[in-house]
Amino acid sequence: MRLAEHMSQLGTESAFDVLARARALEQRGQSVIHLEIGEPDFPTPAHIVEAGKRALADGWTKYGPTPGFPEFREAIAASVSRTRRIKVGAENVSVVPGGKPIMFFSMIALVEPGDEVIYPDPSFPIYESVIRFLGATPIPIPLVESRGFSFDLDALSRQLSAKTKMVILNSPANPTGGVISREDLGRVAEMVRHRDLIVLSDEIYSRIWYETEPSSIASFDGMLEKTIILDGFLKTYSMTGWRLGYGVMPKWLADAVNLLTVNSNSCTASFTQRAGMAALEGPQDCVVAMVSEFRSRRDAIVKGLNAIPGFRCTVPAGAFYAFPNVARTGLPCKALADLLLNEAGVACLAGTAFGAHGDGYLRFSYANSLANILEAIVRIQRISLRWAR
Ligand SMILES: Cc1ncc(COP(=O)(O)O)c(C=O)c1O
Repeated sequence: MRLAEHMSQLGTESAFDVLARARALEQRGQSVIHLEIGEPDFPTPAHIVEAGKRALADGWTKYGPTPGFPEFREAIAASVSRTRRIKVGAENVSVVPGGKPIMFFSMIALVEPGDEVIYPDPSFPIYESVIRFLGATPIPIPLVESRGFSFDLDALSRQLSAKTKMVILNSPANPTGGVISREDLGRVAEMVRHRDLIVLSDEIYSRIWYETEPSSIASFDGMLEKTIILDGFLKTYSMTGWRLGYGVMPKWLADAVNLLTVNSNSCTASFTQRAGMAALEGPQDCVVAMVSEFRSRRDAIVKGLNAIPGFRCTVPAGAFYAFPNVARTGLPCKALADLLLNEAGVACLAGTAFGAHGDGYLRFSYANSLANILEAIVRIQRISLRWAR
């Protein structure tokens, strides 16, 4: 028996492969500092865990409504309306188990063979994977290091066509930590406003920013009715394993996403939604403290990476990734990532894991303690004798 042909189109996330290799090395006694995985290393805040436990004890252990509990969707709509300066209601919100289901479902709902989907390169590998899976044509748009890893707007303008069904934005971004400026978003909005397409705006890192609060393209004139905002509790409240995310979109699209939820997950776990409610309604100082800690680590890792021969690291404006340019080491980035893992005990990802334009870069997740980050820098410094002359 063979797998269905469309399975051959699916890609994957190599972070999980590198994690497995790093764990295998650890089992053989090697010390590895994990800078490969994209999840906050903080525990889920105690009041959220308590709300989850209480919900279990109170019997929130049964099926819930497919789109999410109404009061939870209301609370999400109110929060998104406030933070994005837009006006949405519960009918626009689909609660799903994670961030990926919004990607997957919104693309299944909209994209078909013959369509083109524009997406950033380098970016989260699942975008390209799903585009290919659906038989559509992926159109990567290079991100530009000198512009803080914002889009190449001219390339975007050239690539938009009558076939463009969707444009994917991700700000703050994985893997670059880049934030698309409000000015650039305004120009993107101008380019797409009158076109028959949908923007999937992946804002999963919306609360993790350092200097300037990122804007959402949904807040620009005429864009709310053609934007899907993807966000969730995973990164903001350190809840990756709870699997709690949502999409905010025009009602006709939310209805389609909900139909896909009925056909796949039935609903999102009830008690996790209660925990999410506590996250939204409770104190936000946990988020402030996490971002402040990430800021100190960001400053330390950028300084450390810039001191490594052949490395050049721009200061990321959001998320928790540093994305140094390592072209001047003279080593292919995949070989360099392997060398760092196998011989220095530092796990990171090759930029090419995020697309062809990631060539010449490495991604370091600074979701690890300051002490470990500093130790990783010492280890990289030591092994840099291999490429530095
Ligand atoms: C850009 C981006 N979007 C969405 C997600 C959410 O993914 P998941 O559903 O696996 O938590 C992630 C997680 O790393 C991400 O980096």
